[in-house]
Amino acid sequence: MTESLSRSADGRRFVLGMTGGSGAAYGLRLLEVLLHAGARVQLIASDAARRVLRHEVGLDLAPGEAGLMALAAEDLRAGLEVHANAAVESSPASGSAAIDGVVVCPCSMGTLARVAHGFSSNLIERAADVALKERRRLIVVPRETPLSMIHLRNLLLLAEAGAVVLPAMPGFYHRPQRVAELVDFVVARILDQLGVAHELVARWQTPKPAANPWHEGEEP
Ligand SMILES: Cc1cc2nc3c(=O)[nH]c(=O)nc-3n(C[C@H](O)[C@H](O)[C@H](O)COP(=O)(O)O)c2cc1C
Repeated sequence: MTESLSRSADGRRFVLGMTGGSGAAYGLRLLEVLLHAGARVQLIASDAARRVLRHEVGLDLAPGEAGLMALAAEDLRAGLEVHANAAVESSPASGSAAIDGVVVCPCSMGTLARVAHGFSSNLIERAADVALKERRRLIVVPRETPLSMIHLRNLLLLAEAGAVVLPAMPGFYHRPQRVAELVDFVVARILDQLGVAHELVARWQTPKPAANPWHEGEEP
């Protein structure tokens, strides 16, 4: 249902950092829907993200920025700007750049830890750090299980600093039949947090009493 996103993020500017957590498909789909919705996206990928793309999606990206450009369909590339993760002189590194929000998706536990402790050792970490200091939207989409005490502490630190911690945890109440529907479930939650209108997944509505098993045997 990408058509239904038409221009709902027109002109808004987002940074999307893809790191080496599992779930490259979430980042790819988010990129697609944001561009389709008219957003300007600044895309950065860590070296590990490129490896995960190869393992999970079979994408062997050309090195450098040209490889990242290939992640968007040709007709959507006008809204896409790509940066090397080492390029800390690029605009997302500055608080003066007009950025509406930063999403790290997927977010590895390594990047999560470094952002939680303010390392800013590459452009993704710096863009996340800037979002926190400028009180802009920062959404991290971690994927790991089980979680160690260290992971949990870092997640709490980030939440306390103002980030939205949005784990890649799809729900099943919309009865998904395909992996793409699970991916869309998580991407829909990210779009909600960015304030980008979409109809990727039907929103939950109160079930009618007759169809609601929780009401069985209850007085009307
Ligand atoms: C196929 C694959 C799947 C991985 N899945 C995860 C994961 O789900 N969560 C995680 O924190 N790290 C995962 N890793 C490990 C990270 O990629 C690794 O810690 C890396 O150093 C993270 O670097 P980055 O934060 O710069 O992207 C995975 C690695 C590979 C190759």
